[in-house]
Amino acid sequence: MTIRSILTEPNKILRQVSKPVESVKKEEQKLMDDMLETMYNANGIGLAAIQIGIPKRIIVMDISRNEEEKKPMYFVNPVIDNKDKENITYEEGCLSVPNYFAEVDRPKKCRVQYLDYNGEKKALVADGLLATCIQHEMDHLEGILFIDYLSKLKKTMIVKKLSKQKERPDRIIV
Ligand code: NI
Repeated sequence: MTIRSILTEPNKILRQVSKPVESVKKEEQKLMDDMLETMYNANGIGLAAIQIGIPKRIIVMDISRNEEEKKPMYFVNPVIDNKDKENITYEEGCLSVPNYFAEVDRPKKCRVQYLDYNGEKKALVADGLLATCIQHEMDHLEGILFIDYLSKLKKTMIVKKLSKQKERPDRIIV
């Protein structure tokens, strides 16, 4: 497994719409392994392939937050076919929008159809944190970031600050 570098906003690649996977083969499984390793390394609970620059509809997640007992989840070509009318609010962050958090409302429950790590068809009813996390990750597949839900003013401020962070040279301590 290889830790890949995570793209951060502003970056045009993050705005691409990812393409469906034809079938889950060794190549996709290797990608999912790398994504999971990259996600754990960055202390994230979810990662979409586009965040490491690969425009495929693949997501990995682990919301267990348990070092000893990891519970990785893999979603290939996920589709939401049912959403709750009731919303829930979480303070969201994103590995592609480092150091910023904001409250986002999303449907509390949703049903997702997808292919798993072995390419088998699965369906899942997600609730609470799991539902929010899946919806956040599925937004990445459409080129959407959580900051897109904020006011224009707030979003512009965040993107400006992120751009400045990028311009700074790497800090080295020798
Ligand atoms: Ni994200």
